[in-house]
Amino acid sequence: MMDRNLVIQAPSDGQAFDDTKAFDDSQVPLYYTRKTADILHKYGPGPRVHFHVGLFAPDAKPNTTVSQRVLKRRIVDSQEAIVSHAARTWGVHSAPPRHLLDIGCGLGGGSLYWAQEHGATVTGLTVTADHVPVIEDFARQAGVADRVTPLLGDIHDLNATRKYDAAYANESSGYMDRERLFQVVAGALKPGGWFGIQEHFICRPEWTEFIDGYYKTRLGTLTEYITAAEAAGFELEQDEDVTDRVAEFWVQSMAWNTAELDRGERSGTPSSWSRERLQESTITHGKLYRIWRDHAMETRLLLFRLGGN
Ligand SMILES: C[S@@+](CC[C@H](N)C(=O)[O-])C[C@H]1O[C@@H](n2cnc3c(N)ncnc32)[C@H](O)[C@@H]1O
Repeated sequence: MMDRNLVIQAPSDGQAFDDTKAFDDSQVPLYYTRKTADILHKYGPGPRVHFHVGLFAPDAKPNTTVSQRVLKRRIVDSQEAIVSHAARTWGVHSAPPRHLLDIGCGLGGGSLYWAQEHGATVTGLTVTADHVPVIEDFARQAGVADRVTPLLGDIHDLNATRKYDAAYANESSGYMDRERLFQVVAGALKPGGWFGIQEHFICRPEWTEFIDGYYKTRLGTLTEYITAAEAAGFELEQDEDVTDRVAEFWVQSMAWNTAELDRGERSGTPSSWSRERLQESTITHGKLYRIWRDHAMETRLLLFRLGGN
């Protein structure tokens, strides 16, 4: 069923965006358009393709001297694991949302998860036009085309009123103006609805420029999120620090990259990733692992609840 009630509006008042001028919104769709083939190659073939860190068992350090196929399986399993872990701890199994807004849905891995595993009707919002036909195709393959509607649009301009039981933003809120994000989501949720977030939060600002430069984000602090959420009428219900359990993701992902470099050299078959991109990514992963191990950044699962129920 098509989601016809959703309206994307141009902001009536440009003032709402004044504090975000330093952030260049136009870079985000360009960045993701360039990355689509790489994401499909590394995290595919789908139909549930995620682009976010994954969860490993506490203290798990799986041996990386294994085949590239095993590394990929592990990476994808860890991505699925963090989504299902969040759903479980947020109580979704006992009270599944009927209508869910997946904000910054990427290639739709999360949208398909909520539709397939919890029977939700999902609107997946992305600023990257290339994502839309890919998600439509994956939703068809997964048999949930009638319940997953990808929509091209910017969350800052969304105008939907009391329509959703839940909203979800997995590693996408880092691209957004948090005050505006929470205001928009508060308007879009039914009273008592929840807003679940997986995100990285700055603890040591020395690293902010490096990470924001690499991912084109504008990451914030936990305090900034909570302040913006409370101003919009949300209460923080759960806050789980999963930093130690996701740090291993960088190691496994780095191992996949080096295996891909080796494979290219051995077979002479070029990867969809350029050699330079793979090398840059691999060096960056080493830093990311240290940043996460030191808790200079923290990955958290947050559950906010809108008042008024
Ligand atoms: C790191 S990806 C995460 C994708 C997906 N949530 C996942 O977990 O696989 C970030 C996504 O946020 C989307 N995004 C960034 N800024 C956005 C905005 N202002 N409005 C809607 N989507 C946005 C991008 O298009 C991209 O799909």
